[in-house]
Amino acid sequence: MDQSKRKPLIAGNWKMNVLPSRVPALMEEMKAAVAGADCRVALCVPYVDLAPALAAAAGSCLAIGAQNCHWAEGGAFTGEIAPGMLGEMGVAYVILGHSERRQYFGETDETVAKRLRGALDGGLSPILCVGETLGEREDGSTAQVVTRQTVAALAGVSEEELSRVVLAYEPVWAIGTGKTATSEEAEEVCALLRRTVAESYGEAAAQGLPILYGGSMNAANAAELLGKPDVDGGLIGGASLKAADFGKIVAAAR
Ligand code: PGA
Repeated sequence: MDQSKRKPLIAGNWKMNVLPSRVPALMEEMKAAVAGADCRVALCVPYVDLAPALAAAAGSCLAIGAQNCHWAEGGAFTGEIAPGMLGEMGVAYVILGHSERRQYFGETDETVAKRLRGALDGGLSPILCVGETLGEREDGSTAQVVTRQTVAALAGVSEEELSRVVLAYEPVWAIGTGKTATSEEAEEVCALLRRTVAESYGEAAAQGLPILYGGSMNAANAAELLGKPDVDGGLIGGASLKAADFGKIVAAAR
C-alpha cells in the first residue's frame, strides 16, 4: 500500500487549555476552518471539554478524542477515567504515552501498554506517542528508544487490533519548543517505526498503520512534513488552539 491509500489524520491536542465555556465558540470556528477536509480530523480535548466538544462536532467531519485514560473498566481509582466511559460518550480517540505524561506523571512503558490494552478493549482508537529526549538524540539512541517504546506498548496487540492504532512520533525536544524536526529527521524515524511494526505484524499491516509526526508542526511547515512518504499526519499542540492555523494544517494534508 502506498501513502495515498492511508488517509492522513490531523489530530489536535489541546492539552490543559480551553475552558469548557469557550468550547462551543471555538468548535464553531474549528468546524468552519476544516469544512471540506480531505483527511481525517480529530481534536483531543481535556475531559471536561469532551461533552461540549462532542455536541458541537455532531454531524461534522471532526472526531473527538481524550488525552489519556485508565486501563481498568472501573473500580476504586479516584480521579481516573475508564476507557468505557469515554466510549459511551462517543469519544473516538485517546492519546496515550504522551511525553508530558511520561515526563511529569510517572508514565512508563509498562503503564502505557496497560492503558493501550484498556483503550482497545474499550473500543477506542489509541494514538500512541513515542519519542526521544534531546539527550537521547544527542547520544545516538533515538532508534533504540522509539523502538523500545513501540514494541513495549504493542505487546499482546493483535493484527486486527493494530488496525485501530495510530502511532505518533513526537521528539520530546520539538514539543512546544518551536523547534521542529526536519522533514528528513521525521521521515527517518517514521520509516523506522513502520519497519519495526512490519517485523511483528508483516508488511501489509505496517503499510496500513497511520504514523503521525508531532512537535511544533504548524501552518508554515506542515506541507513539507506531510509530504514525506511515511508521515501520515500530524499531532498538533499549540497550533490546534487557533482555528485558522489548524485549518491550514488540515488543508496541507490533502
Ligand atoms: P506542539 O505539541 O505542537 O505544541 O509542539 C505537540 C504535542 O505535544 O502533541
